[in-house]
Amino acid sequence: MADPSPGRWPLRPVRRPRWSAQPPTAGDADPALITSALKRAQARPSGNWFVVAASADVRPGRPAGARVLGRELVLWRDRTGAPVAGPGACPHLGAPLARGRVTDGCLTCRWHGLCLPAEGTEEWRPLPAHDDGLLLWVRVDDAGETPLPAPVATPRPADAVSAVTRLAGTCEPGDVVANRLDPWHGAWFHPYAFTRLNVVSVPAPDDDRFVVRVTFRVGPWLGVPVMAEFACPEPRTVLMRILEGEGEGSVVETHATPLGAGRDGRPRTAVIEAVAATSARPGFAVAKAVAPLMRPLMRRAATRLWRDDLAYAERRYALRSGTV
Ligand code: FES
Ligand SMILES: [Fe+2]
Repeated sequence: MADPSPGRWPLRPVRRPRWSAQPPTAGDADPALITSALKRAQARPSGNWFVVAASADVRPGRPAGARVLGRELVLWRDRTGAPVAGPGACPHLGAPLARGRVTDGCLTCRWHGLCLPAEGTEEWRPLPAHDDGLLLWVRVDDAGETPLPAPVATPRPADAVSAVTRLAGTCEPGDVVANRLDPWHGAWFHPYAFTRLNVVSVPAPDDDRFVVRVTFRVGPWLGVPVMAEFACPEPRTVLMRILEGEGEGSVVETHATPLGAGRDGRPRTAVIEAVAATSARPGFAVAKAVAPLMRPLMRRAATRLWRDDLAYAERRYALRSGTV
């Protein structure tokens, strides 16, 4: 089929291969290669920073709750809009501070009105918090690494439509990262989203990333072909960047945050994924203008993929821990 409008129209006609007729990728998806890429990622410094929420979820005047490494946290914004994070239990009798109220940048507990200023008190010490414009990070210094003043930066396109999606599963952060470091599962496990997936290069000592050619499917007969790279800037983050094709420069950041053990004693991990989409096309200005309408669609697509990918990550954990 001829290209309907090369250069102007991002969608390309794609042949819909029968799922079972695709070339198998099991021979290329070497478990040792995935494991070594994961180990290198886990050896990188994070400075003890963890993504805990979307920036937009912590609004002025209202606290929010979060969890990391089994700790209950409360998040809010001070008078200047800067994020504040700290223990989620009130130092008086343990009320959930996320149910409190914020007035003039101070958090007031609902049970007996104790007022906690952003700089903390003798009994309630805040944790370092960082807002990168899209995500909120908290530093937990008992996480075992040398603290860094700020999270490891992941450059994003300046002019982007962004959305953040959050899901959680029974697994460890490494299971989420390992899933992302297996690009070969894309067209097999998510045939509704990807087709014609070809892993162009695998990590090498001097270039620790995967490069993949893939077509994002948009309906049964149309798709958007791109080339993308996957790399881990720090132990719990996988960064996907579009190198060529529609949306060049767009990024998808997948962050795996250890929440702590669930009631069954097994670990829970949150997947917090930020998409920052950009495009050089003139029509992108329209997309930016209708960003509030686009965000739910972006979140819906990410949620569908991550429902599957969490099943993969949970399976990986269950096999490793003997809880299948
Ligand atoms: S429990 Fe918070 S003021 Fe009493
Ligand atoms: Fe996947």
